[in-house]
Order: sequence, then C-alpha cells, then structure tokens
Amino acid sequence: MTKRIYIFDTTLRDGEQTPGVSLNISEKLEIAKQLKILGVDIIEAGFPFASKGDFNSVKSIAQNVKGPVIVALARATKEDIEAAWKAVKYAENPRIHVFIATSDIHMRNNLKMKPKVVLETAYNMVKYAKDLCTSVEFSPEDATRTRPDFLYKVLEAVIDAGADVVNIPDTVGYSTPGEFGAFIKKIKENVPNIEKAILSVHCHNDLGLAVANSLAAIENGAQQVECSINGLGERAGNAALEEIVMTLKTRGDHFKCHTDIATEHIARTSNMVSHLTGVKVQSNKAIVGTNAFAQELSIHKEEVINYKETYEIMTSESIGLKKDSIILSKYSDRHDFEQRLKELGYDNMEISKINEAYGKFKALADKKNAISDEDIEALVNEEMFQVPQTFKLEYLQVTSGNSIISTSTVKVRTKQITIDEAACGDGPVDATFKAIEKATGISVNLKDYFLDAIGSGKDALGEVTVKIEKDNRVFSAKGISTDVVEASAKAFMNAINKMYYYINLIDN
Ligand code: KIV
Ligand code: ZN
Repeated sequence: MTKRIYIFDTTLRDGEQTPGVSLNISEKLEIAKQLKILGVDIIEAGFPFASKGDFNSVKSIAQNVKGPVIVALARATKEDIEAAWKAVKYAENPRIHVFIATSDIHMRNNLKMKPKVVLETAYNMVKYAKDLCTSVEFSPEDATRTRPDFLYKVLEAVIDAGADVVNIPDTVGYSTPGEFGAFIKKIKENVPNIEKAILSVHCHNDLGLAVANSLAAIENGAQQVECSINGLGERAGNAALEEIVMTLKTRGDHFKCHTDIATEHIARTSNMVSHLTGVKVQSNKAIVGTNAFAQELSIHKEEVINYKETYEIMTSESIGLKKDSIILSKYSDRHDFEQRLKELGYDNMEISKINEAYGKFKALADKKNAISDEDIEALVNEEMFQVPQTFKLEYLQVTSGNSIISTSTVKVRTKQITIDEAACGDGPVDATFKAIEKATGISVNLKDYFLDAIGSGKDALGEVTVKIEKDNRVFSAKGISTDVVEASAKAFMNAINKMYYYINLIDN
C-alpha cells in the first residue's frame, strides 16, 4: 500500500491573488465544480472577510459543491473567523483556515506584535474557530523564515487548541528542496503532538522551486500539499497541482505515494482555468503546455511511434488529451459533434448551449476544412461562459491599410434599439474598440490585449483575450474567429457585456 497524499487546491484563493486575475461568483463556482470532477480532496474557496464578493463565492461553493472539504481563509481575529464560518458553514465538510505570521520580520513589521502575543493569539483563535467548525487548519505565515524553536512552540500550541491540520507555508518562496525537506523532518521530530494533526505544506514559486520543495516535503513526511491549477498564485505563483500529481503518479516507484486525482481531467481543468482567468499557459510548461507532449525531431517521432517509452514518460491520454482523435468537418452532423463533446469531457452541457455551439461549429466548418479538438474547446468555452448579451454586435466593417487611417463601422443591437457608429483609430483593432465604445456608450480602460492562434495553418482560428477595467474591477473575455479583427471585436464586446452584467445586475 502506498501512502495517500491529500490535494488541497487553492486556485480560487491564492490563485485568484494572481496579478490581473479577478473571477466572479459564477466563474468560481464553475471552477469549483470542475475541481470536484478532478477529484481534489480540499478546495480553498476564498477569504470571506476580504470582500462581499469573496464571501458570496465561498457561500455559493459551500452550498453547491458537495464532497470535497470546502475551506474559508481567516486571519487570526474573531471578525475574520466569524465571516469565514458564516460563509463556509453550508458545506458538507467545512474547514476554517486560520493564519498568522510567525517570522520575526513579519511580526515586527506587519503585525507589530511580540512573539508571546502571536503565540497566544494563534492558540486562542484556533480554539475559537474549533468551537464553530469541526475542522480547523492553522498556518504560521512565513514559516520558513521563522525561528525554528518558536515555530515548534506555535505548532504544539495550535494542535493543543484543536487544529486538525498544520500547514507550513514557504510564503516568499525562499527555501530550497534540501532545506525544506529537512525543515519538515525537524518539525516532525520537535513538535511533540505533531502526530495528532495532518502535516501540510504550501510553497510559493519565487525561485521556481515550489514543486520541488513540495515533493521534498512529501519525502519527509508531509501528508497534504497545497497547490493550484497551472501554478497560479501571488507573484510567481504556487506549486502547480498538475506537476505534483503527475510526478507522484509517474514516479510512484520513487515516492511510494498516491493521490486520488482523476488525472484524465487535468487538461480540461487547466484549459478552463486559463480561459476564465485569462492567464495563458506557457507552451513549454510541464504537463499542460501545448508542447508538453509534442515531438518535433523526426527521428524522435519515429521512435515514439515504434517504442513509446523511448521519449514518453507519461501518455497524453493520462491527462485527458485524446490522441489520434477524429477531426470533424462540414460533413460531420450533430450526433458526431455531441459525441466529440462527450469525449472531451463536456457531458453536462445544457441543450441550449449545445445548440448554440453546434451553430457556431457549422459556421466555422464552412470556413475551415478540419475542425480540431482545440477549435471545438474554444467554441464551447466561448458558449459555456457567456453572460447575457446585453449588447450584440450585428455588423462590423473595417477599412485599413498602410497609408490610410483605419476606420471601423459597427452596428450594435440592444433589446430596444440598434445603433450605428463609426470611429477612426490607430489600426483596425483600435478603431473597432472605439466604435464599440461609442455605440454602447461605455468607455473602459483596456488593460491587456493578446492574440493567439488555436492550432496551426493559414486557416487557424484567432483567439483574442482582452482585459478591461472599470471602477477598479477587471473583466477578462475572449473572442474567436478566423478573422482576427472580428475576434478582437467579439472579445471586447464579451468583456463589456460581462462588465455590464456584473456591475449592474448582480453587483457582487
Ligand atoms: O503564502 C502564504 O503564507 C499563504 C497563507 C495564507 C497560507 O498563502
Ligand atoms: Zn500563499
């Protein structure tokens, strides 16, 4: 029997602290549902005291996602802990995660508290949380820069106070694998009651060592790892869930550990998180980068075909990428399309969404010979996560060239009226965005714009991601088309619709 490692996902909490990322309630709920399908043991849903939006998201996830433990984060204060409990109490398996910094530098500069007071506060607040919730986790923030003797005292105290899990964060990503492994071993040797709690780790990636540090901790007795999809998180991010899980699976011979993750859902989860956060996965990223399973060198290709294990240490199928899948085309009917959706893991789509996606698929098939899985995923993601289209782009015409001023004319329809507007700009995309702003009467700050090709070839789909900002809130959206200006217009329109919907209707 190999040892079970608990996977604690913090995509929705630390991951949401990624610069430029802001998820709304329904996006967080979709991700939480997908994390459940992926088989994570614990979902950290948010920090309820931080904002009304965070509170409502944690509450909604607690009410709707049954099975995994749902966690709410709280600083070591009564107000934070009460807010966490009010939001998370609806969960089948709720947990409150209390944290306070324990390193000299944090206690002196941030908390302005003496170590003795920090020790008492940690004890008292874990006790307070434990009176409310059956499961309590405690984190000494900046543990790796904390004086070891003080850290041992704090851990012993919080376990006495009832903490079920003690989590050791490398908050600033300062540790190295050898050091961190030894640190965990020493905690096991020096905290007398450590066996009464689950020992967890939470590593940041400032030096690119988060996964290596987490694995070193597992080798030295950690039973839970905190990580996030695609390694999202504060600054350089957290340890990437998919890398830890696939390392434990591929190198089971070495680690003698296992997780309960259904690895065939990794690709879909990564794709969804990237789509909803607007944070692209770098192509050479381990496990989920587009190049992770690609073989370029032709002599390698032959060897891979003949003897897979020559260059492949794991299969693309093991993370849910279908190899040799049938490419759809304009001759494919609705049954073929639905079948493919199921194979790609979209088995719970509403009929109306399938109808819309199928319509888009047919329109695309008229322009493109072979429709790949990536194309289908892009179409479906666009459909699945679309908010009501208050403003609809009916028509777009652009004039552009190297010696004329770009002009864009748009027709935008709302429930009541149709508006025609035109604008000039610095290039066709700029002109189109200006025309849309005039037509909708909404002006925004464009924070980010990037264009990607989905797949390859001259007829590849262009996928545009835009991030717009209004009143300090960021809204990210995508648009796809074989025409990049149209893809840009769709992305911009989707972002405006999203902003309109969330600010005006369900202000969270
Ligand atoms: O990095 C950190 O220290 C944290 C704690 C709140 C666990 O995210
Ligand atoms: Zn963190």
